[in-house]
Amino acid sequence: MTAEDLDEVLEIEQASFPKPWTRAMFEGELKNPVSFSYTLKVRPHEGAERVGGYVVLWIIHGEAHILNIAVNPEYRGRGIASRLLGLMLVLMKRNLVYEVFLEVRVSNKAARSLYMKYGFREAYIRKNYYGDEDAIVMVLDL
Ligand SMILES: CC(C)(COP(=O)(O)OP(=O)(O)OC[C@H]1O[C@@H](n2cnc3c(N)ncnc32)[C@H](O)[C@@H]1OP(=O)(O)O)[C@@H](O)C(=O)NCCC(=O)NCCS
Repeated sequence: MTAEDLDEVLEIEQASFPKPWTRAMFEGELKNPVSFSYTLKVRPHEGAERVGGYVVLWIIHGEAHILNIAVNPEYRGRGIASRLLGLMLVLMKRNLVYEVFLEVRVSNKAARSLYMKYGFREAYIRKNYYGDEDAIVMVLDL
């Protein structure tokens, strides 16, 4: 992800989450030395490349925390999140990560199913994590 991607990233972010990240939050991640931020680009039959989806994660002392992942609503259900997650697991292994964790809204069935498909387990609940909803903490041992 680069600064040039942020207009498109923010559009997807706002279409994806009830409490979307701001531009300043993404800019902070681009400068953060422990942060890995990637976009996956798609090339429609006609026209220029677009951001299909993106992911933001931290790697600290062998632990990875997935902070954000979203796919452009126009391109959902076509394997973009799976591809992003698969690539990130390769990146994590190369960076000697032994455990990955993330928080997900209890109501987010699509994301919970995506993570289960990649072997994450539902470890415990963080009560009222989002202010209006609990989070499930999901964990994957690499
Ligand atoms: C969750 C999200 C990232 C999935 O992206 P996607 O590119 O559509 O996902 P994929 O096509 O790679 O699907 C992978 C798996 O996710 C799950 N999944 C995706 N969409 C789903 C849906 N609508 N209902 C149930 N499961 C779904 C399935 O397990 C699917 O595997 P399958 O195709 O073998 O059934 C996307 O819906 C999104 O951006 N949602 C809003 C943002 C968000 O909730 N991010 C996660 C925050 S924790």
